[in-house]
Amino acid sequence: MPEPTVLDGIAIASEIKAEVALEVQGLKARGVNPGLAVILVGNVAASEIYVRSKVKTCAELGIFSEMLTPPETVTTEELLVMVQSLNAREDIDGILIQLPLPAHVNTKLLLEAISPDKDVDGFHPVNVGRLQSGQPGLQPCTPAGVMEMLRRRNIDVTGKNAVVIGRSDIVGKPMSMLLLNASATVTICHSRTFDLPAVTRNADILVAAIGRPGFVNSTMVKPGAVLIDVGINRLTDANDVARFFPNNPDREALFLRRGSVVIGDIDPAAFALSSAYTPVPGGVGALTIAMLMSNTVKAAALRRA
Ligand code: GUN
Repeated sequence: MPEPTVLDGIAIASEIKAEVALEVQGLKARGVNPGLAVILVGNVAASEIYVRSKVKTCAELGIFSEMLTPPETVTTEELLVMVQSLNAREDIDGILIQLPLPAHVNTKLLLEAISPDKDVDGFHPVNVGRLQSGQPGLQPCTPAGVMEMLRRRNIDVTGKNAVVIGRSDIVGKPMSMLLLNASATVTICHSRTFDLPAVTRNADILVAAIGRPGFVNSTMVKPGAVLIDVGINRLTDANDVARFFPNNPDREALFLRRGSVVIGDIDPAAFALSSAYTPVPGGVGALTIAMLMSNTVKAAALRRA
């Protein structure tokens, strides 16, 4: 079997960011300064890392950004006031509320309060509806990044069997809709699916978005399939590291240094069966922020169209 193609998310993200930087320059020449506001509630370490990375990328591409950091104790009402004020601001084109929010906050209500035209996460019901009905709108960054990756690496999905494992509002559902809109034959699987391996073995394109380390194994993959791994999980047990990464001294060394290593939802052993796959790290994850930047510029342009 020929060597699989590695779908290099970092390289593809660089291509997208370079194009977005040019669009930013074009907008600025017309007197439009694209701006993104990010709301980060409390002190969740992972969220802080993601948000810092989003703000830094804005600066690299010439996009104005503003971070609002209310404490963990903030109320839904206080957050609603913040969102309404951002909705009204002329200099803000995109509003992102970093998830998850504390349990006492009404997440759905807040996401619905964001103006659909500034909803750069594509989570507002109006944008969900636009995606469902095939109208232009802002689309969730991670699945949009997967489509961008397939398009840029000439992987045609028309007529193919695409199987998505996971039905989250952030990835699984919008991913399925994007693949359907691109004329794939789409199956959505989840934790209650009967005989999952029988379904996944039918996939020409298999997307794993379930958050379970190395869950998709070689017996679940059709030889020659395209494997898209959306999972970002951490292994903290030495036995798991040895099992998933045998003969991989680099990962072993990383584990000894850091006490954990990152793994996706697909067992790396299964990648060898594929025609193309996204590595973890350095695959789909790298595209999410690039697409957020792209959505911010798109929102800035659309609001003035
Ligand atoms: N938390 C994890 N992923 C995301 C995302 O794509 N958007 C937001 N707002 N929060 C997240």
